[in-house]
Amino acid sequence: MRIVSGIQPTGNLHLGNYLGAIRNWVAMQDQVSAQGGECLYFLADLHAISMPHTPADLGANTREMVAALVACGIDPDRSILFNQAQVPQHAELQWLLNGTARMGWLNRMTQWKDKAGKNREGASVALFTYPVLQAADVLLYQATHVPVGEDQKQHLELARDIAQKFNNDFCGEEVPLFTLPAPFIPPEAARIMSLRDGSAKMSKSDPSDMSRINMTDTADTIMQKVKKAKTDPEPLPSDKDGLEGRPEAKNLVAIYAVMAGTTVEAVLGTFGGEGFGKFKPALGELLVEKLAPINARFLELREDRAALDAILRQGAEKARALAIPTLEKTYEALGL
Ligand code: ADP
Ligand code: NA
Repeated sequence: MRIVSGIQPTGNLHLGNYLGAIRNWVAMQDQVSAQGGECLYFLADLHAISMPHTPADLGANTREMVAALVACGIDPDRSILFNQAQVPQHAELQWLLNGTARMGWLNRMTQWKDKAGKNREGASVALFTYPVLQAADVLLYQATHVPVGEDQKQHLELARDIAQKFNNDFCGEEVPLFTLPAPFIPPEAARIMSLRDGSAKMSKSDPSDMSRINMTDTADTIMQKVKKAKTDPEPLPSDKDGLEGRPEAKNLVAIYAVMAGTTVEAVLGTFGGEGFGKFKPALGELLVEKLAPINARFLELREDRAALDAILRQGAEKARALAIPTLEKTYEALGL
């Protein structure tokens, strides 16, 4: 089993990023390496240039994300952790696969339609061919499985179509070159909502800092934010159904359950009938207790540029060693 997954380098990481994305990578790493498989995790910095971006932020965000991943439990000795830009084979394979991908296939991608919107003429070519780079990202390593959420299913299908057409067109009677990656359904990801509005997702784009818990927040700040979180005047219900129509209460209980490694039912078993005056401090303390070691490690690593660069350099070396044989076979199959 070989899993390949990428994440966009983004700065100002918050609890939503941790519980919704990073924690799943750690769980996958632990599960896959226990079965003798391996995970390749990359920072999608090549993808980032498909949209307007600030060059100075891109490098900084890439390093910040690596610091967060390692602080949260990604182990660079067990997983291959790297950024695309240091493995030129990604871009090379994409070009080679551009000969196989069809315009019609890319035109049908819903994410392209959504992201380009009405301004197709002004969209970058990279935004259009992004799914071919995604195909290269996984085919390059002969990935057996790719974790996909709902929004990425269509892109994985495209990667499989490209692999299949390439194998048919250029491998003849010989062994097919590319492994067709299967979807790996990750453990259900938590969706964390804003502390100020239970109908909006927690996001770095929210202008109010009180709406989110940042990975750089101190214990005092975390306690303050939880105490000031928006709620309703009712006590907590004793069962799950009682949370319907109470998005803020539901979100806080859900955060408690994930952080404590328990179920919503169990949390309500303990706190049902209690008011937020009792529940909020308990949630704040739980968050502080669980996040403190992660935050401390994150802040320390974030300042250690040499260590972060070394992690990425070593990850890229391992990734290149796996990528080169596939790329060479691809050139050969094409007669290049
Ligand atoms: P933001 O909304 O803060 O800009 P990004 O869009 O950069 O976050 O998301 C980075 C990763 O974190 C993605 O995998 C995304 O699904 C996850 N993520 C972001 N916000 C949340 C959230 N509130 N709950 C769960 N997962 C989230
Ligand atoms: Na975003």
